[in-house]
Formats: sequence, structure tokens, C-alpha cells
Amino acid sequence: MDYSSVTKVMKKQTFVAFKNYIEENIGIKIPDTKKIMVESRLLRRLKALEYSNYEEYAEYFFSEKGQLLEVPRFVECITTNKTDFFRENDHFEYLTNKALPDILKKADPHLFRLWSGASSTGEEAYTMAMVVSEFLEGYRGRTFKILATDISERVLNTGREAIYTKIDSAPIPSVMKKKYCLQSKDLANPTIRIKKNLREKVLFRPINLTATTYNITNQYHVIFLRNVMIYFDKETQKKILNNLYLHLHKNGYLFLGHSENLPDSSVPFKRVGPSIYVKKDGYE
Ligand SMILES: C[S@@+](CC[C@H](N)C(=O)[O-])C[C@H]1O[C@@H](n2cnc3c(N)ncnc32)[C@H](O)[C@@H]1O
Repeated sequence: MDYSSVTKVMKKQTFVAFKNYIEENIGIKIPDTKKIMVESRLLRRLKALEYSNYEEYAEYFFSEKGQLLEVPRFVECITTNKTDFFRENDHFEYLTNKALPDILKKADPHLFRLWSGASSTGEEAYTMAMVVSEFLEGYRGRTFKILATDISERVLNTGREAIYTKIDSAPIPSVMKKKYCLQSKDLANPTIRIKKNLREKVLFRPINLTATTYNITNQYHVIFLRNVMIYFDKETQKKILNNLYLHLHKNGYLFLGHSENLPDSSVPFKRVGPSIYVKKDGYE
């Protein structure tokens, strides 16, 4: 298909239909000023399906067949999956120096449970795994498990595979890279893979954060929910935080992204560090 023949402007009512769908089903707020962003992100689906305008794509998307087959691909286009190993590294330093020793002192768990709540392709969960592994070396008989969840199956599959480009792996300190990663021998396409013993500590599962409940029974000592709250409106953020509260251990820590804060003082958390929170007293 001649790509230049695609009509790259979406009609207002088509935009409103997508905007409402995104807000209701993914929870991401789409102000009218984001119309161009929605157009550019969906353009590759028009190309892949050989539609010549957004209205044809919308007709397919909202049909029974489209709702069965197209939703995961649509979600991929709309969400932002940017992540890195050791992203916002002071959080991992806080984990080692403050949060984990404090949890050990107060709760003394044999099994530390951690949750990466918008894990994207797994770099955050594996960074947590390396850091907790290092920390627990000094404590015999203690171990950990990490739950990594995201709305997108594609990113979860990348996390399960745990293969990353050499460039992606650059922020991993070389001592940890030697200890926790395998290096490919393919010089033309150098990659690393997280070693099996660390991979086995991380379980990847789909969870939509905006769902009413998460179908999780465990309580977590540490929850990372970084760089995803910015996409939600205040009401959705409050709903998510109240849900997370139920799954955070009474001595647990919640980490949001550096550019994220609590929506207001009604949520039962108090700040103890840069975008780091614990449960407010008296809410247990
Ligand atoms: C920018 S990435 C953040 C990755 C990682 N937490 C970090 O800080 O590097 C945001 C992730 O949130 C996921 N996401 C967006 N909406 C979601 C929802 N409603 N439920 C669960 N995950 C969602 C996206 O698929 C994406 O992988």
C-alpha cells in the first residue's frame, strides 16, 4: 500500500470514541490536546492493516472481531513502555540502605515479597532482583520473590524471556553483570540474558491497575509503581493507591516515580523519602 495515501487526520468523533475507550479500559487520561499523539501512535496499525483512514480502523476496532483480536495491539500503541535497568537509581540505594534493613528489623521475613506494578519489559523487576540478592547474601536462610505485572502481554513476554541488548544492559554495574547475566557470543548482535536462578525469582503476570481488584492474595514488603501514575487522573490514582494499600505489608514501602506524588492527603500513605511512602499510622 502507498503509505502516503493514508489520511493522517482523525475525525473528531473518532478521536472521542478512542479517547473514551482508553480512559475507561486502560485508565489513561487523554486530554483533547493529545489528539496528534493518538493519531501518530495508531498510524502503524493503519499501515499494518492496510486501512486508508482512522475511521476504517475504528470500525474494525469496535467490531466484535476487532475487540477480540486488536485490543492488545492497540494497548501496545497507546502505552509508553520506556524503562531501564537501575532507572532512578537512588530508589535502589534506598532499598538496600534503608527499606530492606528496616523490613528485616520489624518483620523479619524468611521470604521477602516485592512487586513491580508496571513492570514494562522487566528491567525494573530484574534490577530489584539483583539488589535484593546482593542484600540477602549477608543473611542466611532468607530468600525473595518478585511479582512483575503490566497491562501489556508483549512487554510481559519480553520480561519472561529476559534477553536485552548490550546497550540496554549498560547501566548494570559490571560486577552484577558478571554475576547475574549471561553474555551472548554473537558479536554482530550482542545481547545479555538474565541467568536462570534470577529469572526464576520473578513471575510475570498481566494485571490492569485500574481493575476493581487484582486477584492477589499476598502482601508485599515492597511495591514499585513507578512512571505509570502520571498517565492516570486523580480519581484513578486514588483508586489504585487504595487498592495497593491492601496489598502492602504493614511494614512495607511504596515507591512511585520521581516525577510522581500522592494525589492528595486523603490516601493512607506518608512520605519518607523522594517519592517513597509507608502506610500512615493507624490505618492497619
Ligand atoms: C513508562 S513504563 C514504566 C516502567 C517501569 N515501572 C519504570 O519506571 O521504568 C509504564 C508501563 O505501565 C504500563 N501500564 C499502562 N497502563 C497500565 C494499566 N492500566 N495497568 C497496568 N499497567 C499499565 C505500560 O504498559 C508500561 O509498560
